[in-house]
Amino acid sequence: MADNDNDLSLLKSELLATVAAATDIAALDEVRVNALGKKGRLTEQMKTLGALAPDARKERGAALNLIKDEVAQSIDARQKELAAVALRQRLERERLDVTLAPRPQAEGRVHPTSQTVDEIVAIFASMGFTVAKGPDIESDWHNFEALNFPPDHPARQMQDTFFMPPVDGKPMVLRTHTSPVQVRTMQTQKPPIRVIIPGRTFRCDSDMTHSPMFHQVEGLVIDEVTHMGHLKGCLLDFLRAFFNTPDLPLRFRPSYFPFVEPGAEVDIGCSRKGGELKLGNFGDWLEIGGCGMVHPNVLRNCGIDPEQYQGFAFGMGIERMAMLKYGIPDLRTFFEADVRWLKHYGFAPLDIPNLALTGVAP
Ligand code: DAH
Repeated sequence: MADNDNDLSLLKSELLATVAAATDIAALDEVRVNALGKKGRLTEQMKTLGALAPDARKERGAALNLIKDEVAQSIDARQKELAAVALRQRLERERLDVTLAPRPQAEGRVHPTSQTVDEIVAIFASMGFTVAKGPDIESDWHNFEALNFPPDHPARQMQDTFFMPPVDGKPMVLRTHTSPVQVRTMQTQKPPIRVIIPGRTFRCDSDMTHSPMFHQVEGLVIDEVTHMGHLKGCLLDFLRAFFNTPDLPLRFRPSYFPFVEPGAEVDIGCSRKGGELKLGNFGDWLEIGGCGMVHPNVLRNCGIDPEQYQGFAFGMGIERMAMLKYGIPDLRTFFEADVRWLKHYGFAPLDIPNLALTGVAP
């Protein structure tokens, strides 16, 4: 016990000074023990009260209690202060700057083919289509025969491709179009069917507008009521949304594809004045794909009764659509893996297709 602790006002000011001098919680705890603990300076003073005369005990006891309360309060207040300081320091130390710019996206671009597939799928998804897939190496039956191309039919000649070794005695080909996935879908799904089929396709072709490997997107709708008017409306809505051209005109030109009857080629309106291609209602026409009402033989080959069901199909070249939409002049450059080209024509990964811009309500 410090001798001069008998002087209560001195004791009080000393204790309050040590409280104020404590610069962290650990130091403050020590101050608390030294003042109020079992052997603390105030506690020791309390113990001396018993030896005093009743009046003096009463007076000193009351004074000690007041000091005890005051010191305890000041410790509590100091504790709050120190806790706030510690929190502030921690926040400062562990600072997370959420306003920091994202890492520069210098590397990596989405290829225009992938971007175009995403855009096409988003638009058709908004019209209630789902995505279907099939294999790149396809049986001759799925690629040709089921689609009403008999073995020696001249229509096969336009789709010369890479023939693969037979599997289980069945001739195999690198698929020449996405149409065999129509067959696979009809074999596995019951009508009503509404699918969109983006995928890789292969042909023996190579020049500025043809590549041995390219991509197509196929569409198929089968139910009991769908007719050619629906086909035209569906393609019109899609093409206007895809090309962001609300008055884009569409023309059906009668054409032959073995798996549709009637069949048509689809042209969109454009202008070629001055060698520059512009899409819109300008009087010139540009072919964009094929379409038609699914041939009854194809339905029958897939186990669907043509007396009950009917529907339409269409197919378009994905790179061709990307070339038109994004002004890319040479098809072959899509597959050259030239990073400078990709930097120029590619898309930032978060450049997600936005249906609000296309005018098609989701
Ligand atoms: N598969 C055809 C081709 O590659 C394109 C096509 C035409 C697809 C008419 C269709 C269609 O679904 O109905 O040349």
